[in-house]
Amino acid sequence: MCGIIAVSKRTAALADVLDILRGALESLEYRGYDSAGVAVVIPPEAVTGKAPAGKASAGKAPDGQEVSDDKIWIAKSAAGTGSLNELAKKCEQFVLSVGNAPTDIVAGIGHTRWATHGRPIEANAHPLMSCNGEVAIVHNGIIENYFELGAQLQKDGHELTSETDSEVIAHLIESELAKDGSADVGDNGERLHKAVLKTVAALKGSFALAIVWSKAEGTVVAARRISPLIVGITSDLILVASDIPALLGYTRELFALEDDQVVQLRPGFLKLTDIKGAEIEPTPMNVDWDVQAAQRQGWDDFMCKEIHEQPSAVRDTLMGRLLPNGTLTLDETRFSDDELRSIEKVFIVGCGSSFHAGMVAKYVIEHWVRLTTEVDIASELRYRDPIMDSRTLVVGVSQSGETIDTLRALREAKRQKAKVLVVTNVVDSSMAREADGVLYTRAGPEIGVASTKTHLAQITALEILALYLAELRGTLYRQEISQLLKALAKLPLKLEQTLAHEAEVSLVADQFGQANTFFFIGRHVGYPVALEGALKLKEIAYLQAQGYAAGELKHGPIALIEPGVVVVGVATRTLLWEKLMANIAEVRARGASVVLVANQGDTETAERADAVLWVPTTHPLLAPILDIVPLQMLAYFLAIKHGNNVDKPRNLAKTVTVE
Ligand code: AGP
Repeated sequence: MCGIIAVSKRTAALADVLDILRGALESLEYRGYDSAGVAVVIPPEAVTGKAPAGKASAGKAPDGQEVSDDKIWIAKSAAGTGSLNELAKKCEQFVLSVGNAPTDIVAGIGHTRWATHGRPIEANAHPLMSCNGEVAIVHNGIIENYFELGAQLQKDGHELTSETDSEVIAHLIESELAKDGSADVGDNGERLHKAVLKTVAALKGSFALAIVWSKAEGTVVAARRISPLIVGITSDLILVASDIPALLGYTRELFALEDDQVVQLRPGFLKLTDIKGAEIEPTPMNVDWDVQAAQRQGWDDFMCKEIHEQPSAVRDTLMGRLLPNGTLTLDETRFSDDELRSIEKVFIVGCGSSFHAGMVAKYVIEHWVRLTTEVDIASELRYRDPIMDSRTLVVGVSQSGETIDTLRALREAKRQKAKVLVVTNVVDSSMAREADGVLYTRAGPEIGVASTKTHLAQITALEILALYLAELRGTLYRQEISQLLKALAKLPLKLEQTLAHEAEVSLVADQFGQANTFFFIGRHVGYPVALEGALKLKEIAYLQAQGYAAGELKHGPIALIEPGVVVVGVATRTLLWEKLMANIAEVRARGASVVLVANQGDTETAERADAVLWVPTTHPLLAPILDIVPLQMLAYFLAIKHGNNVDKPRNLAKTVTVE
């Protein structure tokens, strides 16, 4: 998804601000992007060299750089994943040509674009300018009424030059500034703030916005509806970004904008208002991630690092919940025990890997807690008219806490008066703030687009929740619970043992490196593991991979099984092992190659496979936490063998903030 950064820095040269913008855009890269751009308001004192030619309203200089008469410089690149490198070169040339004298204050904005409306070309890359070249904006989200707004703007004489839904915002702000009677007198930061308030009131859809105006030197105005936006503050620097990792290197003094809030910022000045202009006090965020956690630290890529961080992600998620005396505590969810006892039905909702974690939870909640549990993809649940009431617990599962489909489904649940609990990795994320209760996974920042450690942490948190409910509602004996807690506590060590098989998994990837059709099958809790294994292979290795409930194969998909197809079975010892083996026999009989996830030393399973992925034994309902790991590694090695960038797979975004 698009990434936004805005900066205002005191006692800075242009190069300082461009460096901060570039660095922050690099840390937003993982969200997925196809083009990028920056804009800075040029203070006259900064210009010591020859001012570059070009004028924003009249078009671009040949290299794609733009400078308006009113001193906003813009550079863009639509070179796909090479955009940030190209942009860095343009910034260097610009600084060389205009000079780099320190000035009182410099403001700028930057953007990585993940195309929705309009092709990934430079004209559609952000920042986007108003006609007079005085206002530059960056936008994440979708403006649903852009067509009507654009038609009206054109009637009023504005010239729209991009194919985007976002450009109207710059023109609307320009119009509002022009209508403002106090033209060219008074506080221009305040004038921009008011113009943005009027503009966002006219917008339908979702937006995270950052705006600079050449006449409001050093001021950044930002606004949010649905799409996330975080503000970071230091004594001489303010930053606004789409997510926390982009800000971690500068400050932990952060707050998140809420829906329909607008903020006006300069170092030493902050004014936060609601959409009507009433002032609000920001609520600080509590972020305990450190900068190193969001860096590669010598690993080849983030995905590999994050796969190896899984033992600690699970250990940290258990910490403080699993007490040394073998009992469980879950005070932090904000629900009283009576409220949790009153629940009659559970819905679990999420997308992608988070949905798969929710599927595992359905099995465990129904089995341990004896509560009817539905699990649904967020984008489906939201629009299928589900029936909920105050005795329904809706559990939203989301690594980012920002996925728009899940956020909307949870809002629908709240509208129906259900109790909403969120399992998320991001403290104070939108879902965490809006939910009635939160259960944080403690996996640390996940930068690789493919979820790995956060997925395991989600399953862990959901298993803890299920056991807590079982204890509270008396559906499991105390002794059963304490045995399960002991088994949970052993998982970090068993994950380390699983990761020790990495080299063998790499050999299995070599063995099937030429295959291009994979079926992942499993039964019971092995079924969501199969779906997750297939998702990993699709998203990073770009291979045809289908995930199926093993028993369903013979109802159609088995027609696709033939020599050359690889069937990956989740064959650790559960109640349904024999039945799964029957399904494996069916695919073998039709010529498929078979790879099985099996418990360490289980020769009976190994005899039925062309290759084995070993995992330690655990309680069958905890097994997904181990079983998925070799499938993540298999996808990883196949992706690397195919020469893919595992951290930034094509077409994907880490956090999906459009529906
Ligand atoms: C997983 O590898 C994916 N990148 C994706 O399916 C992800 O799980 C999904 O978009 C949900 O994101 P969330 O957990 O942040 O809500």
